[in-house]
Amino acid sequence: MRYFFESGNFSEISLAELIAVFESFNLPKDSIKKVSNTILLVESNSITKETLSMIFDRLAGCIRYGQVIDDLDSFLSPYLERKKVVYGISILGDSELQIKDVEKLSNEIKRGFRSSEISTRFILPKQKELNAAQVINNHVIENGFELCIFESNTGRMYGNTLAIQDINAFIKRDVERPSVDFDMGVLPQKLAHIMCNLTGLKNGIVWDPFCGSGTILMEAAVLGFDVLGSDIDLRALESVNNNIQWLSKEEIIKEVKYNVFYLDIHNAERKLLKDLKRTGINAVVCEPFMGPPQKKVLSEAKAEDLLNSVRNLYKSLFNAINEVSRIGFKVVLIVPSYKTSKGWLTFNISELVGKKWDILNRKYGQGDLKWKRINSIISRNIFILEKR
Ligand SMILES: C[S@@+](CC[C@H](N)C(=O)[O-])C[C@H]1O[C@@H](n2cnc3c(N)ncnc32)[C@H](O)[C@@H]1O
Repeated sequence: MRYFFESGNFSEISLAELIAVFESFNLPKDSIKKVSNTILLVESNSITKETLSMIFDRLAGCIRYGQVIDDLDSFLSPYLERKKVVYGISILGDSELQIKDVEKLSNEIKRGFRSSEISTRFILPKQKELNAAQVINNHVIENGFELCIFESNTGRMYGNTLAIQDINAFIKRDVERPSVDFDMGVLPQKLAHIMCNLTGLKNGIVWDPFCGSGTILMEAAVLGFDVLGSDIDLRALESVNNNIQWLSKEEIIKEVKYNVFYLDIHNAERKLLKDLKRTGINAVVCEPFMGPPQKKVLSEAKAEDLLNSVRNLYKSLFNAINEVSRIGFKVVLIVPSYKTSKGWLTFNISELVGKKWDILNRKYGQGDLKWKRINSIISRNIFILEKR
């Protein structure tokens, strides 16, 4: 069986997330192949559809997934048994096909159904592909199909969408959560979700030592982790309480064990670290500090200044993590990179953490894991580390 996953805007990150979630299900990563900029193919006869559906439900970096269609006629034939079919056609990725090609194919399909006296409703994509709302609101998957067309390194391929990302759930958590303080700096909800998945774990205890209003903790809780949050800012701890309780109240999560506490990472007491070690934390997921928002390209000196202050935070962070972690402990964290007149400046995380930690980024993809909008001055570089 072959399946396709369509990645979101940051395709290297989507690939890394898919591989990490496969790992958390004990599935081999070599069944995943990137066949174009946005398409990941999974080839396996042993992975069940139910498992793939559970995997897709955990992802934030993929927009849709489905089954590859080997023969269009045999794919369409079961629909000839129905009275009515709702269907849509989407062109994924960088295919040269245009909307007029979609219309042509749709008309051919429609003629086939009409000749068998089947009524049809065709949903035309607004751009080249149907958006999630079009697929969900028109019940395309339940009452028919979304036919996807995409290019791969071996030629044009067709696929049948099995599920599309529940974007409304992410928007709801982002917009409706009761407490958020943008001055503290807030991670995009999807990035927080992806970072939790990049631990390669399905459950366990995640600690965010720079929790802010708790974006990472919320997403970790949604994925089924128990969560610990700490911050130097007492308002942040209050916000986390509000947000996690809101998740329960809204029945987004059933049950979560969580705790929040004050901690200045530069002054972590030994007793506290010992207690944390006893708690059996499995992973730290965090964004320590990105510096203030920047509108213009920075001077080298300014970027160096910012990086120096950030570097100290990371040093203290790893002093603490070294005390609470055991072999196999995972850390997923963001390191900022600043755009200067002389190019991008960042610091070397492997020098900072030393030999006790393996950097796993290469295991999860070929390129850097950068979450960066075009024209932005600060890039978020994601690192995945494992204790030796
Ligand atoms: C980028 S924000 C984290 C935002 C959070 N991920 C979110 O999306 O809500 C960084 C956080 O680090 C906290 N912080 C800064 N210095 C700290 C320190 N020395 N010890 C602990 N927390 C600190 C800040 O109070 C802030 O909440």
